[in-house]
Amino acid sequence: MKTIYFVTNNMGKVREAKALLEKLGIDAQQLAYEYPELQSDDLEEIAKYGAKHAAMHLKKPVIVEDAGLFISALNGFPGPYSSFTFKRIGNEGILKLMRDVKDRKAQFRSVVGYCAPGKETITFSGAVEGEISHEPRGRSGFGYDPIFLYGDRTFAQMSTEKKNEVSHRCIALRRFAEWLQKNNE
Ligand code: IMP
Repeated sequence: MKTIYFVTNNMGKVREAKALLEKLGIDAQQLAYEYPELQSDDLEEIAKYGAKHAAMHLKKPVIVEDAGLFISALNGFPGPYSSFTFKRIGNEGILKLMRDVKDRKAQFRSVVGYCAPGKETITFSGAVEGEISHEPRGRSGFGYDPIFLYGDRTFAQMSTEKKNEVSHRCIALRRFAEWLQKNNE
């Protein structure tokens, strides 16, 4: 089994990535290294920079992943500022901003950056469409999961396995795994 190092402090992401990649013959090991986050409104730029930095520093082939929640009625907010926004106002704050808003469409986007030491980063992206719920529901997952409706359930009402069938992160990770297998890196 090929080993890849997933550089993140987010155990929710690690749980999802491990479960998915294991099935695809890749052993994902977490490395809790805090790489510098580029200030950019482009997820791809952030993942590219982070993976390159982490690969160089750790001297290992790594993946990093950057995700965001893009809400249509808020012109894509919080988008690349999802982490900051979650820390400051959380799900309750988003629900307040969305009070009386009819258009509840939202999208989760993910970009996975893969980098081997001395090489350039390659990126893989994934997205999933959903809606913002009217109240938080469910206890699984992390972050915005309790307010992100996929069909009639929020991501926090799904098992990791179910979320992994449809999530932005898993689409991006599957694309990465296919590439890795083809390129036999
Ligand atoms: P980052 O990729 O760690 O920068 O994530 C940005 C923000 O979006 C953080 O607050 C995460 O908790 C949240 N987030 C990222 N992916 C997901 C997800 O799959 N479900 C719910 N929230 C997420």
